[in-house]
Amino acid sequence: MPNPTNLHDLTQQANARLKWMWQTTNIAGRPFELAVAADPDGMLIEACERQDAGEEGVIDPFWAATWRAAAGLDRYLANVELADVDVLELGCGTGHAGIAAALRGANVILTDGVDDPLLLVRMSVDPVRERCTVQRLRFGQDTIADRRFPIILGSDVTYLRTLWPELEVCWQQHLSDGGQVLLSDPYRIIANEFREWIADRPWNYTEHKMVLDDDPEHPIRVMQLTSA
Ligand SMILES: C[S@@+](CC[C@H](N)C(=O)[O-])C[C@H]1O[C@@H](n2cnc3c(N)ncnc32)[C@H](O)[C@@H]1O
Repeated sequence: MPNPTNLHDLTQQANARLKWMWQTTNIAGRPFELAVAADPDGMLIEACERQDAGEEGVIDPFWAATWRAAAGLDRYLANVELADVDVLELGCGTGHAGIAAALRGANVILTDGVDDPLLLVRMSVDPVRERCTVQRLRFGQDTIADRRFPIILGSDVTYLRTLWPELEVCWQQHLSDGGQVLLSDPYRIIANEFREWIADRPWNYTEHKMVLDDDPEHPIRVMQLTSA
């Protein structure tokens, strides 16, 4: 079935598929209405229970939570030139980081490997729909045909070792010459390991610490990669 594009049809489809709600979120320094899962914890528990019961192929609904890493990347983007710049977001979840780029004038393709978040993101991007495209992309498996991007975003997508090689394939497929990959995470131990892993690969790595007002003691790390 083709993806509906108007808010009314999207809302009906979302209502039929999952429990969701509008949540006012500070994005690019202003209040913005994000469509989010109504009960992310319940969804995660249900997925764990189904896995424990032996069901195969259950996808963890990590997209459903709102992650502070996205707010940190949003804050970092305030100092990046984005007007009319083409941006690809990987593993967009609720779409906070990609929408932050679009609100600053970028043309953004927001992607995730899971369909449910994409349905909600299609609703959320309505106020900036001229600058946003939403589509499914599984790291290293799907490509956006003939497109390269000077900026690739990924908020909290380095949380599993198995994702790193797939992400690297995706960056190689989609990053323009001279472009940059911007990743964020809340200083997870696993992302420290990612930093060691990437050090042995053909990338230049720079790290930035973003202190957020809501919890200054738990800053967000932005990892900037450029091709070596
Ligand atoms: C921890 S969540 C972060 C979501 C969002 N970027 C944020 O910061 O709020 C990780 C996201 O990566 C997506 N993801 C995980 N594995 C993926 C894969 N192999 N391909 C594409 N997306 C994937 C998940 O569906 C989820 O939305």
